[in-house]
Amino acid sequence: MKTRNPVDDARAIQDWIVQLRRQLHRFPELMYEEVKTSQLVRQTLDGLEIPYQYPLAETGVLATLGDGQGPCVALRADMDALPIQELADVPFRSEHAGKMHACGHDCHTAMLLGAARLLKEREHEIHGTVKLLFQPAEEGGAGGKRMREDGALKKPDVQRIFGLHVWPQLPVGAIGSRPGVFLAAAGFLEMTVHGRGGHAAMPHLAVDPVVAAAKIITELQTIVSRELDPLHSGVVSITQVHAGEAYNVIPEAVHLRGTVRALSMETLRQIQKRVGEIADHVATANRCRADTTFPGNDYPPTVNDPHCWSFAQKVAAELIGAEQIHEAPAVMGGEDFAFYTEQVPGCFVALGVRNEAQGAVYSVHHPQFKVDENALPLGAALHVAFALESLKELA
Ligand code: NI
Repeated sequence: MKTRNPVDDARAIQDWIVQLRRQLHRFPELMYEEVKTSQLVRQTLDGLEIPYQYPLAETGVLATLGDGQGPCVALRADMDALPIQELADVPFRSEHAGKMHACGHDCHTAMLLGAARLLKEREHEIHGTVKLLFQPAEEGGAGGKRMREDGALKKPDVQRIFGLHVWPQLPVGAIGSRPGVFLAAAGFLEMTVHGRGGHAAMPHLAVDPVVAAAKIITELQTIVSRELDPLHSGVVSITQVHAGEAYNVIPEAVHLRGTVRALSMETLRQIQKRVGEIADHVATANRCRADTTFPGNDYPPTVNDPHCWSFAQKVAAELIGAEQIHEAPAVMGGEDFAFYTEQVPGCFVALGVRNEAQGAVYSVHHPQFKVDENALPLGAALHVAFALESLKELA
């Protein structure tokens, strides 16, 4: 019997996948508000006669194919968009003002639905279970953690998980990943520097939190440059500074927000500890007080199981050719796929979407972010092959 190439099968339904993606792109929804998105996922699964559990993690959907027994492999897509006003020149531009699928989660959802359709056609070949995870709130809401808590990795126990992410650094047709840490541990920080307001002409009668905050921001930059091992990686970025309403008034307080990143939880905790200490002491030296909080939902690093990545390379080589597979450098972006690979072996794979001729050159989270949609059937085919070949290997 001739083995079927999932890429040919996926190309045959490319228009269907692209149409789903564009529909999702038009109506982006932010974290834990993926109501219409989740509805479209469920309607599509209903149409394909694929059973699912709903809701997990508020808006999440867990679809199941196969006999409900082990071995069990999971494939994951995220569904949420970003608070960005879209500026891309596409005919299916976002119709929700101030919201945009700028991280390609519309593509991820459509590709996984494509895989669902292809796997349904081949369900007789599934000896075991394939779980499809459509999760909310990847962009800072730890939706993956909630899916995990709601049992997405249990009954039957998931033994291996794969996720794909559109990757503008790689050309369409290519994929990339790496063994070990691929994406960073990441967390947010909030800080209030309290002083005492007053007339700007009489600073001696006030305690100026603006000057103290400026010193804190500068001083925080020595954590990475002077305290971390130069061979380790870390980031401290202050991204929001809010204070004051008038030209001539020293404000009571300054509010700061930002993010910290590292390649291990240990380093992340070390950076967080030092952020608090430095803020405290610099504030005190300037007669102010700093309250630093870390709002939680810190993402662990996304760690690829080395075997899962070499397995993925072997499977992908059959589909797209070995020359299209790249070892990608680790990046300091965070990704909540990490919550799954904390518990089960897996691999997060970057899917090339770059195409200069189409203007698909902008990074994710950019208002002009665009993808070459020819990548979508490849993603669906990779999902299918990762699942079916894993079941054979785990049998
Ligand atoms: Ni993303």
